[in-house]
Parts: sequence; structure tokens; C-alpha cells
Amino acid sequence: MIRKIAVDQLAVGMFIHDFNCGWMDHPFVTNQMLIKDQANIQKVIDAGIRELYIDTQQGKDVATAEGEAPPPTAEEVRVEIDQKIAEIVAAAPIVIPVPTLAEEVKRARKLHHDASKLIGTMMTDIRLGKQIEVDQCEPLVENIIDSIFRVPGALLPLAQVKTQDEYTFQHSVSVAALSVAFGRALDLPREEIKQLALGGLLHDVGKAKVPLVILNKPGKLTDEEFGVMKRHARASAELLEKTPGVSEIALKAAAQHHERYDGTGYPLGLKGDEISLHGQMLAIVDVYDAITSLRIYHKGMPPTEALRKMFEWSKFHFNPRLVQAFIKGIGIYPAGSLVRMESGRMGIVREVVAAKLLQPVVKIFFHAERQCYLDPETIDLSLSQDKIVAHESFEKWKIDQAQWL
Ligand SMILES: [Fe+2]
Repeated sequence: MIRKIAVDQLAVGMFIHDFNCGWMDHPFVTNQMLIKDQANIQKVIDAGIRELYIDTQQGKDVATAEGEAPPPTAEEVRVEIDQKIAEIVAAAPIVIPVPTLAEEVKRARKLHHDASKLIGTMMTDIRLGKQIEVDQCEPLVENIIDSIFRVPGALLPLAQVKTQDEYTFQHSVSVAALSVAFGRALDLPREEIKQLALGGLLHDVGKAKVPLVILNKPGKLTDEEFGVMKRHARASAELLEKTPGVSEIALKAAAQHHERYDGTGYPLGLKGDEISLHGQMLAIVDVYDAITSLRIYHKGMPPTEALRKMFEWSKFHFNPRLVQAFIKGIGIYPAGSLVRMESGRMGIVREVVAAKLLQPVVKIFFHAERQCYLDPETIDLSLSQDKIVAHESFEKWKIDQAQWL
């Protein structure tokens, strides 16, 4: 009989069937051997072996006291391990503790707030005729990059929610965050991503030159007002041109964010590669964020629908290859979108990994068939048997997205 024993049960006269240390070297010539003396045992212990198999037909068995169960046989060990593996596989969904996500969300919330506030102050300063101070933005941009690189699902969904009054500032932060995610998807060097994000953070500073009545007008703008509003792109460029410390990348990205690939944009009507790569990228994230933004009186488009639209528009307005890269980078089920699983459960996508676009990390909290809320749990679909079957609308289910981010 083959038994599995602990090394401290090993005794002289036992026959080692398997050292149970397949991956490392043991100091013996053969893989099977009779323990002849105490020195043999010491050698096994010194090799760091903790458990091993003995053959009780070729050597002594373990001496067990009355009523004490003998060590398991090799077969019993195999059955037990198989059972445990079956349990692990069957116990879907596997709940993975993600303290980093919770911590990151907390950090991201503060970061989002601080960054929006900074842009707000900066725009007030510009209205008062003060200079932009790029130095103030840099630590925030670094923090945005760090946050997105650590856990993209923390900052990106937060950035979707905006308030009416602070829309412009919050939009700037979102554009910066999205451009980091985009730059990362394209594998751009960190310094280039930083300059792109800085351009994103400052792309709308020219709106400080737009009268507040037009900027904050809740309804539709008249043609004339729209004309005034459009001037912000040139104003951003002019403001950043005279700001020391603004790189060419950041400047072009900001100045060109309303240019369109087919030449129908403004202020210069640039076409194709006349627009810098970073200008082309910012144009994509600017529109994506604008249409997905959730405001109190404005229903944002679900991210999946927004990506569909972006793809449609890429025929004319955007560089199609870049839009494809953006979709790949942000995911089919982007962070922040509401999805329904095969099990009927629903949740918000928290984190998307590029290699597993269809299997993101989802925070589950609702059951579609039972029509009730569940205890929230975060599952990694790449480790679960459950899978996404549909994208759902927050509106239809009357779910407050902001509450679940
Ligand atoms: Fe803009």
C-alpha cells in the first residue's frame, strides 16, 4: 500500500516510494529507497521535504496507536484533492477580495474632486486675467496616471458622473483620465501619456473666455451662441501658447480637440494627419466623454452604445484605426456599464483587462428575474462560470449608476 506520511513519521525500515518533491532535487541517487539508518532520515529532513509517500509492502508501515487513524493512502489523497478541485470549480462565482479596488475608488474620488476643483479655480483665475500655472497640474496628472495604471475601473466610472455647475471642470478631468487609458492601450511611453493627459486636463480652458450665460445655458444654444462657444478651441490654444511649460504634445492635443479627421472640424479645419496623433486622440475621448456623461438633467448614453456611435462616426470624423484602438482599450463592456449575466444577475463593470475584454470584473448587485437587489459582490468573470449575455440600461431598470460606482 502506498501511504502519504509527514516527514516526522519517517522511520528506519520504511521504503520511500516517492519523495514528493518533483520539482526540486533530493540528495539521493534513486527516487525510491529503503531507509537504512537515522542519517538517511536526517538527509530527507535537510532536503526540506515535508511530506512523502512510502510503500508498506516493501518496508515498514507507520505505527499507529489504538484508535488512531493511519495516514491516508495515495488513492485517498488523490480523491481528496480531486474533490477539493471540483468544489473550487463548482463554487462559482468565485468572490475575489479586491481591497485595492475599494481603496483605489476612495483615492480616485478624492483625486477627481481635487482635480475638478483645480480646473475650476484655474478657469476663474483666467477670467480674472491670471496666468495658467502648469506646475499645479502636474502632480494631479501624475496621480491620474498612477490611478489608471493601478486600477482603471476606479477613476473611469467616477469620471462619468457630472454635476450641472461643474460640468466643464469634471469633463476636463474625465478627458484626462480617458486619455491616459487610451495612451496606455496604445502603449505610449509614460512621458507622452503625461503630456497628452495634461492637454486633456487643459483642453477646455478656453471656455473661460466664453461668457458664463452661454457656457452654463441649460437649453440649446442659438446659432450665434454656438459660434461664440466654438471660439473656446482657439482660446484654449492661445492661452496655452503663452503658458510656460506646456509641451508641443499638450498644446496640439488641446488646440486640435475639435478638429475632425475629414476636415469638418474647427478652428482650423485641419484634415487627416494634419491633426497630430494626440489631437486625434483627444477628439475621440472628448466626444466619448461628452456623450456618456451623466448629468442631473441629462441622461448619458450607455458606454456600449457610445462606442457603437464612435465606430459609426469614425467613418468621417475620427481616425478609424484610433477609434478601433480606443474601443479595444476601453473594452466592449467598458468600466461603468451595466450588464446582465447568464445567471440573471446584474452588475456594473468595474475593471477591464485588455486580454479579456469579454470577461471583466463586475460588481453584482441586482437580480433581473427576481427583480431585487442582492448583497453586492465583486466577481472576476475570467474566473467564474457566469458570463455576460447583454448590456442593460440604467434607465430601464431605474438603477442609479452613481450609487453603485
Ligand atoms: Fe471643447
